[in-house]
Amino acid sequence: MYERKPMIAGNWKMNLSLKEAAELIKTIRNGIGGVEGVDVLVAPPFTHLGRVREAIGDSGIFMAGQNMHWDVSGAYTGEISGRMLQEATCTHVILGHSERRILFGETSEQVDLKVKAATFLGLIPIVCVGETLEQREADQTFEVIRTQLDLSLNNFKADELMRPSTILAYEPVWAIGTGRTATPAQAQEVHRFIRGWIEENFNTGSAAQVRVLYGGSVKPENIADLMSQPDIDGALVGGASLKGDSFVQIIRYKEGQSG
Ligand code: PGA
Repeated sequence: MYERKPMIAGNWKMNLSLKEAAELIKTIRNGIGGVEGVDVLVAPPFTHLGRVREAIGDSGIFMAGQNMHWDVSGAYTGEISGRMLQEATCTHVILGHSERRILFGETSEQVDLKVKAATFLGLIPIVCVGETLEQREADQTFEVIRTQLDLSLNNFKADELMRPSTILAYEPVWAIGTGRTATPAQAQEVHRFIRGWIEENFNTGSAAQVRVLYGGSVKPENIADLMSQPDIDGALVGGASLKGDSFVQIIRYKEGQSG
């Protein structure tokens, strides 16, 4: 069986001052000494990327943008391109987060353009999908996820573009920032479904290699159980990534498991 390296990613959203951001990185660096076999990533606000890169230094922590435009440059007031993210030394970019979709009206068609643009540039997209509570209660979860995947990765499907490095994230909207986490079984069921979708639309090789992260109220107390599921390859963490000690505990989830 192919071994997928777990990733713990912190999505800072619109939080932290520059000083707090640099201090947080320092705490993470000090806390993850000796941890092996886990990729660590942070996604700071755009204005913090330069300072965060300095703080990251040679620690190997990956840095992502939280969004980007699909064009390389142009008259798009308030937008940032993938190339700009790369110049700011980002290796990854979060795309299609539910806050972008719901609060800013981003459509799956736009996410699709962004995913394609990021991939062409060599930025690794972290593509988010997830259902609302209403949709879950109406038994539409799989249908919603399938449609989001079909539309948000449409260019991938058409051009067979999906690379094994692509990262997907399942983030049930009802679990984000609510303190209400999907149970490990609920999450596993959808992760399995997503992997099945990759297999159906691409091939078994990609399905075995693409990492699928879980997001939605991940914290030190629930990370080990989530990570024990076969198709959960890491976490996209919001609130608990803003505090150094809790984020470090999440990164060190394997020790929590044994102790
Ligand atoms: P949360 O956010 O951990 O605060 O629920 C997760 C996310 O939005 O990525």
